[in-house]
Amino acid sequence: MDLKAVFTCFLAVLAVKVTSASLYDPHMFPDKGPFFEGWYMRVSDLYSRDSFGLLFGSVLPSSSGNITAPLVVASVLLRSCDKTIDTCKLVSSDGKFTLNDLNITVKGQPVQSDPDKTAPPDFKWQVNSGSQGGYFEQKGGITTFNFRLGDLILRGKATNPSYWNDQGTGPEGWLINLPLPLHWFVYSLRSELSSCEIQNVTSGAVTKVYTGAVHLEKNWGNSFPRQWIWSEGVSFDNDNATFAMSGGLVDFPFLSVNAYLIGYRNPMKKLSLDFRPVDSLISTQIDGCTGNVSVSVYSLRYKLDINLVAPVATLSSCLLGPEMHGFVRACVESYDATATIQIYERNLLLFGYKLIEQKKFEKIALEFGGMHVCGGKCSNSMPPEEL
Ligand SMILES: *[C@@H]1O[C@H](CO)[C@@H](O)[C@H](O)[C@H]1NC(C)=O
Ligand SMILES: *[C@@H]1O[C@H](CO)[C@@H](O)[C@H](O)[C@H]1NC(C)=O
Ligand SMILES: *[C@@H]1O[C@H](CO)[C@@H](O)[C@H](O)[C@H]1NC(C)=O
Ligand SMILES: *[C@@H]1O[C@H](CO)[C@@H](O)[C@H](O)[C@H]1NC(C)=O
Ligand SMILES: *[C@@H]1O[C@H](CO)[C@@H](O)[C@H](O)[C@H]1NC(C)=O
Repeated sequence: MDLKAVFTCFLAVLAVKVTSASLYDPHMFPDKGPFFEGWYMRVSDLYSRDSFGLLFGSVLPSSSGNITAPLVVASVLLRSCDKTIDTCKLVSSDGKFTLNDLNITVKGQPVQSDPDKTAPPDFKWQVNSGSQGGYFEQKGGITTFNFRLGDLILRGKATNPSYWNDQGTGPEGWLINLPLPLHWFVYSLRSELSSCEIQNVTSGAVTKVYTGAVHLEKNWGNSFPRQWIWSEGVSFDNDNATFAMSGGLVDFPFLSVNAYLIGYRNPMKKLSLDFRPVDSLISTQIDGCTGNVSVSVYSLRYKLDINLVAPVATLSSCLLGPEMHGFVRACVESYDATATIQIYERNLLLFGYKLIEQKKFEKIALEFGGMHVCGGKCSNSMPPEEL
């Protein structure tokens, strides 16, 4: 065998490992809707423990008929704190745009193909309408954002992503290749914020964030499911632990499946666990009216118990989510939730479990969507004028 070829091959394998290749780039819009793609960034300030979010996306509706809901949306999420009652409610500042205001490019060119999981992401999502708009760019491992939405200006930069996995496939693993109605991809569980500033144009107040952990992800597919939950958090201890989970009722033509994707990382303990419907069994209890979620998930080797709770007063009012006809009221979210996680490893000899990790995450994000919102109050049957 030709040694040079073996060496080249070895280098190629190595290259895939280190290039940070992933599916973070945008998809091509199909010829016909429904289709949407939306990105989400959340920054946890490691010093003040404050946090904020940025989300943006677009919908290609299922018909070109009478569309009243916005098709392109970008929002900043901030905690609005009332010190007298020691409660911070999540509040969004939204920008609503048309598809004509939007310019998405990959490597500086219009999107001509779907993302390549063997190439590092290089894209720019840009929207402009009068004084409102801005951009998000991911290029060479650096994330840059600069938006003006409502009376807020948000700009900053993040570097050194911590990828979900080396294959660039994210939480779904090989399932990402299936034509599922909805996909979830996490690009980075923990990038480092290198600069960031939030300015209120009306009051002139400027907040600078110096040390942040940045979570970066996206969704794409037909539309959000009938009901779902999503949660993500970073540890404020110096172990850099993170977790993220997402799941709900996914509709197929003849059946609906309760499917969850869960990831837990603790680099200090060399723990990197993923749970997916194809390799685990799950039981869930979800109560959007009390803000409580309890999940037990078992794989061949591990068991994970997770309790999430968001004080009801910290939940936002209905936030916008992508539906077949555009962005509509879809979900509520808190950045003041708490996660308690226990992980057990199966002891094959004793047929029992050993507790190997116990951890509490504070100031995490927790979202209740669709019919998991208390009383279904964000259901999309509400008239769009009430957005
Ligand atoms: C579009 O929908 C709005 C609100 O539902 C309605 O008032 C309007 O008449 C409709 N326009 C057309 C052209 O159907
Ligand atoms: C879209 O963005 C690209 C890259 O920033 C730019 O070169 C191009 O002129 C823009 N196109 C439109 C129509 O604004
Ligand atoms: C910006 O400041 C003004 C004036 O203090 C306030 O009314 C407004 O709610 C603030 N905007 C946001 C998004 O916090
Ligand atoms: C945590 O992250 C920081 C910054 O990325 C890094 O310097 C440090 O080594 C990490 N600690 C552990 C235990 O992984
Ligand atoms: C929600 O969870 C909290 C903390 O685990 C617990 O104290 C509370 O009783 C739970 N509420 C309900 C209604 O289950």
